[in-house]
Amino acid sequence: MQKILVVDDVELNRELLRYILEEEYTIETAADGKEAIQKLQESREETGAVLLDLQMPDMDGFAVISELKERGWMQSFPVLVISGEYTIDVENRCLELGVSDFIHKPFGTSVVRNRIRNAMELFSTRKKLERKVEEQAEALREQNEIIRRHTEKLRQKKSFNRLMMEYRSVIMEVETRLKVLNEEFSQEYNRNPFEAIESRLKTPESIFEKLDRKGYPVTLESIRENLTDVAGLRVICSFPDDIYRLAELLTKQDDIIIIREKDYIKNPKPNGYRSLHFILSVPIFLSNEKKYMNAEVQFRTIAMDFWASLEHKLKYKKNVGSADEIVAMLKDCADSIEALDYQMQEIRNKIDRSRQ
Ligand code: GTP
Ligand code: MG
Repeated sequence: MQKILVVDDVELNRELLRYILEEEYTIETAADGKEAIQKLQESREETGAVLLDLQMPDMDGFAVISELKERGWMQSFPVLVISGEYTIDVENRCLELGVSDFIHKPFGTSVVRNRIRNAMELFSTRKKLERKVEEQAEALREQNEIIRRHTEKLRQKKSFNRLMMEYRSVIMEVETRLKVLNEEFSQEYNRNPFEAIESRLKTPESIFEKLDRKGYPVTLESIRENLTDVAGLRVICSFPDDIYRLAELLTKQDDIIIIREKDYIKNPKPNGYRSLHFILSVPIFLSNEKKYMNAEVQFRTIAMDFWASLEHKLKYKKNVGSADEIVAMLKDCADSIEALDYQMQEIRNKIDRSRQ
């Protein structure tokens, strides 16, 4: 049975509460604030709740609450005030001080029982949750520490930095080839097949995290063999047509090898994601060797990119309310965007034809 400490200067009140509650709980009593603090000092760990009168000689209820707060004991058990001194102000002051509930005198037996039971349940649920959150935070801190240690080791390795230099080089290589095509197009056809290129080198943290998640060893060979997206490029085009034209022009270059192609434009993901993905193997020319490096290249229209960045943001936002609704709305938007992409392309084609 859990222990409840009843603090009241009137003996009749203490005995009344004992009578109501002793079937469910072990009842301790204290006749004033000082005695209450003293009893809690001895048996704080076993105390499940404190029922506190406000008007008491010497140390009144508010003084007891202040003392409990000061000692940090309000986190150990719920405190319920039982008082006849009822004004909204008094009740409010108690609740603001962190009291779990306020019961008015005179009270009904079942009201007291239910309120105490609810307060204790709520308090213990909150404590369990807090403990769980703290455990998870601790696990996360440990995980982060492991990642930090490993990535620090990677960063200090000269060979790792050399590998990253090679990935930066392949990004430059692909970017240049795309820019050359853009130059040629604007000369020959007076138009640009893409609006922008974005690129990124995977961070050591993210490299380590992915190797670890997929169960690969954390070595340079393993990065080379198992990760295809250390060098990443995103090519943003105006129209779907341009995506395919540009992708073909790039991938048919005679020294580029297509390792993998995923066409999420012809076959969108269930969530509505659309883009054309390639893993390419592209040569870079170093001082004394020609070396093939992997790069991930994603082709998208402006509209697809707009959608994907919003969806990406929501994916990493925890606790977004009504997630199902948002997923459905995003799918809706993806469908509208697809229609829009082809309408815009149709308009451009009409303009082009009328120019000829
Ligand atoms: P990852 O291990 O996540 O890289 O996936 P994967 O190796 O199966 O490759 P995939 O071609 O499916 O995805 C590669 C990249 O495309 C991801 O890292 C994202 O940048 C992007 N991507 C894929 N699916 C989605 C999606 O549903 N939403 C968004 N916003 N981006 C996506
Ligand atoms: Mg990836």
